[in-house]
Amino acid sequence: MDSAPVPTIRPYGADDIPALRAIQQACFPPPFPQSLLWTREQILSHVEHFPAGALCAEIDGQVVGSATALIRRWHADDPPHTWSEASDHGFLRNHDPHGTALYGVDIAVHPSARRHGVARALYQARYRLVRRLGLVAFLAGSRLSGYHLHRSGLTIQDYAAAVARGALIDPVITPQLRAGLRPVQLLTNYLSDEESADAALLMAWYPAEHAS
Ligand SMILES: CC(C)(COP(=O)(O)OP(=O)(O)OC[C@H]1O[C@@H](n2cnc3c(N)ncnc32)[C@H](O)[C@@H]1OP(=O)(O)O)[C@@H](O)C(=O)NCCC(=O)NCCS
Repeated sequence: MDSAPVPTIRPYGADDIPALRAIQQACFPPPFPQSLLWTREQILSHVEHFPAGALCAEIDGQVVGSATALIRRWHADDPPHTWSEASDHGFLRNHDPHGTALYGVDIAVHPSARRHGVARALYQARYRLVRRLGLVAFLAGSRLSGYHLHRSGLTIQDYAAAVARGALIDPVITPQLRAGLRPVQLLTNYLSDEESADAALLMAWYPAEHAS
């Protein structure tokens, strides 16, 4: 029987900034560019522009994870985009309340709290938000962070395909597949990141495909 504590999901606010920044540092060590970790100004901007999309997870009163999203206009035929375009360089001033999709720009769970369903709980909170707001999809641009281990033998396209069919495990994409997302587009120039060779998969979850 699983006795893992159930995380509480709630909006984050200014008081959570120290905890959120500590989680970012623990989750995105170098070689991930440290300039991309949330700053105080970016976190305040998330809360200002779309507080419902600024979520954190608590266990026993401690913040152990966070997930940040905005609403964008989106169509399945849209050309590839970058993380900076999608997130307005991490500030979310491009949040569009009249958009069609909830777009996740970040998810991070402290290493000490992983593999206990915290990310799954954050995704489920995002899915509830998609339903509540009548949006067509939850999307996430998700770096292929395990690619550096296979770079000598596989192209990024082959690696992404192998992860998508479950033949390889990727530390970011595999948890998303387990949480119900599926790949829709390879984004080859998404984010400056050595581990993924800058590549990400656009992942999607559609409420229309899931009975409520
Ligand atoms: C990716 C991340 C958010 C997952 O968080 P988590 O709370 O450990 O994930 P969960 O416990 O909710 O796991 C969800 C599912 O994925 C599986 N899973 C989680 N991590 C996994 C891994 N490294 N390898 C394989 N499966 C994994 C879990 O077993 C679970 O599946 P199940 O319920 O069917 O057994 C976390 O590892 C993290 O913060 N990574 C660093 C930050 C990062 O790169 N974020 C993405 C930015 S694009």
